[in-house]
Amino acid sequence: MRIDIITVLPELLKSPFEASILKRAIDKGLVEVHLHNLRDYSTMNHKQVDDYQFGGGAGMVLMIEPIHRCIQKLQAERTYDEIIYMTPDGKRFDQRDANKLSLKGNILMLCGHYKGIDQRVRDHFVTMELSIGDYVLSGGELAAAVVSDAIIRLLPGVLNDETSALTDSFQDDLLAPPVYTRPADYNGWTVPEVLLSGHFPKIEAWREEQAILRTKERRPDLLDD
Ligand code: ADE
Repeated sequence: MRIDIITVLPELLKSPFEASILKRAIDKGLVEVHLHNLRDYSTMNHKQVDDYQFGGGAGMVLMIEPIHRCIQKLQAERTYDEIIYMTPDGKRFDQRDANKLSLKGNILMLCGHYKGIDQRVRDHFVTMELSIGDYVLSGGELAAAVVSDAIIRLLPGVLNDETSALTDSFQDDLLAPPVYTRPADYNGWTVPEVLLSGHFPKIEAWREEQAILRTKERRPDLLDD
């Protein structure tokens, strides 16, 4: 898989891909992540990429021309399965979206800034719009990092058995059950007996029960459908 990200702040996006699981996935050649500085595609003085909005009002808008030039250059090199615009008014990103996107070959993400991007970019180039939650970030970069992380950890070979994605929260529309590690008794706070029993069917049944309890308590909306 290959992820290309168009941004005015590439430095904000670098570090998530330079540590831990994402770095290992890249080093192993399981995914390529390429950051593109939108300013490199500006034809204006001072590499300007934004302008005042027509009709007046506060806030700058990213212009269509540099974005179009960048997308055109990238599309000349490969075909993209999705061109995703990160925006608070997009579809709320969830595990199902992550699962689906992890099956794609090439994904292009576009990070908004200021008041957003010229609507014509969204009308003519963007194939999917994603929000990571009902709050406004100062740009789409952190959202793009979140979505990339959720996708990349699902790629075959990225996680080992211990970190397997199959038992994650949401993977079966349930939150994950509680987990414990040594010591079995700390200050008199003990671990549920069943986990120490070595009886796997019982352990599995307990985990399932706990997952359902936890979901009912914290996220009953997940059990609705
Ligand atoms: N850009 C600004 N806020 C955002 C959000 N909540 N999700 C995705 N992109 C954003």
